[in-house]
Amino acid sequence: MATNWTPESWTSHEARQMPEYTDTAALDRVTGELAQYPPLVFAGEARALTADLAQVAAGKAFLLQGGDCAESFAEFHPNNIRDTFRVILQMAVVLTYASKLPVVKVGRMAGQFAKPRSANTEEVDGVSLPSYRGDIVNDIAFEAAAREPDPERMVRAYNQAAATLNLLRAFAQGGYANLHQVHAWTLDFMGRSPWAAQYQNVADRIGDALDFMAACGINPQTVPQLNGTNFYTSHEALLLRYEQALTRRDSLTGDWYDTSAHMLWIGDRTRFEGSAHVEYLRGIGNPIGLKCGPSLEPDALLRLLDTLDPARTPGRITLITRYGHDKIEKHLPALVRAVKREGRPVVWSCDPMHGNVVKANNGYKTRPFERILAEVRGFFAVHRAEGTHGGGIHAEMTGQNVTECTGGAIDITEQSLADRYHTHCDPRLNAGQSIELAFLLAEMLNQEMREREKAAA
Ligand code: PEP
Ligand code: CO
Repeated sequence: MATNWTPESWTSHEARQMPEYTDTAALDRVTGELAQYPPLVFAGEARALTADLAQVAAGKAFLLQGGDCAESFAEFHPNNIRDTFRVILQMAVVLTYASKLPVVKVGRMAGQFAKPRSANTEEVDGVSLPSYRGDIVNDIAFEAAAREPDPERMVRAYNQAAATLNLLRAFAQGGYANLHQVHAWTLDFMGRSPWAAQYQNVADRIGDALDFMAACGINPQTVPQLNGTNFYTSHEALLLRYEQALTRRDSLTGDWYDTSAHMLWIGDRTRFEGSAHVEYLRGIGNPIGLKCGPSLEPDALLRLLDTLDPARTPGRITLITRYGHDKIEKHLPALVRAVKREGRPVVWSCDPMHGNVVKANNGYKTRPFERILAEVRGFFAVHRAEGTHGGGIHAEMTGQNVTECTGGAIDITEQSLADRYHTHCDPRLNAGQSIELAFLLAEMLNQEMREREKAAA
């Protein structure tokens, strides 16, 4: 257990990216109420995820983490949850089939509400208002009252997270994720993508294999694992008053856990030394993600690892690198070498989204698909060269047919961005682009596996 730590010890550290609530009495009342609510996840589940991630760190599994940049109250709908869940399942099938590695599935779902922003205020036509910080804090509408942080939003976010998680658990364990459904996960609007045919092909082959296994007596009744899957949740632990309210002591081990999600991560803007976010996360038992951008020096990373993972627990730390397609090969090797030299058992995961934002001519914030792929390629190239495992992908994506990132097999042009641009924050891959990414990832993972076998022979 962390020393000199309490769920509120972060309050004596520098806290960036946090809203200023004017009604502090209301804030205390809400967080007091939340502290009495049931936990959303259990400590044992968080430990199971750490164990799964330890397999990734050891090169024996792959991490797939994805979902909205920002979940919103407006887009809360069972179909949206189902569609994102099924694209993640489809991606996992493609990856597992090609690489023969188990895939650890983690949604950026059921709690991904709070957003760090590059500026405290937003200006439109000469009017300046506080920035939108995610639906758990304030409202996206550009009006003074809407932008006022409202603590009551935390209760609504908790309730939405609980309902989302409930549906995800039902999908994962109630039969929807049964591998026999591999054909049924296909989304209708995918028909036009050349990757839809590729997916059908993989699904057919899995179907044949399952039929063969059934003939041998291996079916969901004899092997219950075939009937469902483990699906975990995660979000950026940004709004610390909320996270603190959901921090509970595990009755089995006596350790503290953040019960708002299985995995929590620290953003690139809040991982500085001495940060309140680092202080909070060092004390909880959940697996932790750390975003690593261009400004993170190897020595600073090693000091952060000493703080966050003094016991060097495999699977405790996932390093989520996010450099940009033209920077990754310059920056990543130094971090990989430092971590390897120190023998730290981390998961390396690639976030090819946050370093690749561009502004389209018509003003939309977008991400060109080819740059996303280029960063993924650079990530695998570095890990191949360093002899480490490119262990995961962290994507902002949705099961909806949105037009937010340009490019892909069904080409989204800058002109068509306006058609279905629904994100509350950063642009997401749509379902077609996500599946396409999975196939290209599968190819790279496959190459890593082949080279590893060759080296072992
Ligand atoms: C995010 O993941 O949405 C995010 C803000 O990322 P980063 O901290 O890497 O900028
Ligand atoms: Co984002």
